[in-house]
Amino acid sequence: MDAGSCAERTLVSTRLSNELFLPDPALPGQPLAQVDTPSLVLDLDVFERNLNAMQQWADRHGVALRPHAKAHKCPEISRRQLALGARGICCQKVSEALPFLQAGIRDIHISNEVVGPAKLALLAQIAVQADVSVCVDNMRNLQALAAAMAQAGARITVLVEVDVGQGRCGVVDDHDVLALARAAEAAQGLRFGGLQAYHGSVQHVRSHAERAALCAQAAARAAGYASLLRAHGITCERITGGGSGSAEFDAASGIYTELQAGSYAFMDGDYGANEWSGPLSFGTSLFLLSTVMSTPAPDRAILDAGLKSATIECGLPRIVGRPGLDYAMANDEHGVVRVQAGAEPPVVGEVMRLVMPHVDPGFNLHDTLVVFRDEVVVDLWPIAARGLSR
Ligand SMILES: Cc1ncc(COP(=O)(O)O)c(C=O)c1O
Repeated sequence: MDAGSCAERTLVSTRLSNELFLPDPALPGQPLAQVDTPSLVLDLDVFERNLNAMQQWADRHGVALRPHAKAHKCPEISRRQLALGARGICCQKVSEALPFLQAGIRDIHISNEVVGPAKLALLAQIAVQADVSVCVDNMRNLQALAAAMAQAGARITVLVEVDVGQGRCGVVDDHDVLALARAAEAAQGLRFGGLQAYHGSVQHVRSHAERAALCAQAAARAAGYASLLRAHGITCERITGGGSGSAEFDAASGIYTELQAGSYAFMDGDYGANEWSGPLSFGTSLFLLSTVMSTPAPDRAILDAGLKSATIECGLPRIVGRPGLDYAMANDEHGVVRVQAGAEPPVVGEVMRLVMPHVDPGFNLHDTLVVFRDEVVVDLWPIAARGLSR
């Protein structure tokens, strides 16, 4: 086969030399078992059920859904969420927004502070082409943002980030909230849009009841800041926040106007360990396929997926459907599996399905998402923003 026809057949081919191309990990129509590994694969049925569940939950409570694209970095996924009714998307970094802009997405919230001239200049260029909002928690940064917008002739919506308990970014002082909101109202090129009140550390509180209580506290703090603004004649249109673990409570709080959840579309080992006893729950749609490359001892098998295929800050990958087999250790390119006595022995060439411990950094390790339905590959979606962290 010549190089030209190979390029036509492949979606995300990497050109290695004039003659050699790395083929895509799979072709539509192939059985899942034939996917080249390690590969991220998406069960379309479960994924679609997850998207519908969150959109319906948001609709039922009259809040907007603005799913976070940092979870997956894949424009095709955002397109599908928007088609179901999402208001727009969130990105965490300015550079991350570019592939989504290129894919035609025109309502983007940067759920983060953007600092430094290069990033502000890029943000301004994006704001010329799209409806963009960004977080601010510092007056000098707000002034630099205003200057960048003025220089580009752009306009951006500013959300003041408030810390509602996470202890990450965000102001806590009433005076700071008011000062930033007023400065955003006054500056040319800026428009004050409301508050970001995201509480990351409640997302993985395991107990459903405890999570509910902590989310109620965060919502009360957000409501306090919104009333403060209103008491000073400042309109607070949006209160945005929420993740997959808190969306159930945030939507029903009557405080948040917008949900930023991202991981719900896939679910990972860390979210799977939460207690999901309420009305909202999600299935695991994302897996890592990995091949047994060696069986050096009866109690040990080696997989071809290690640290370059999944991150392990939230625990190790979990092997699905193979009782007695535990992913015990991740090396750079190897996964060491412990085989318990009595377990069906793994064989070289066997393909295993693993649950990712943490989807966000996991997606960032892969170029392509292999999409399947009923165990057959139906599509390949580029993870176009992978690596874009500036
Ligand atoms: C600001 C912000 N919003 C929303 C999310 C989405 O959270 P999740 O993917 O856990 O639903 C995150 C995740 O870290 C975040 O940092």
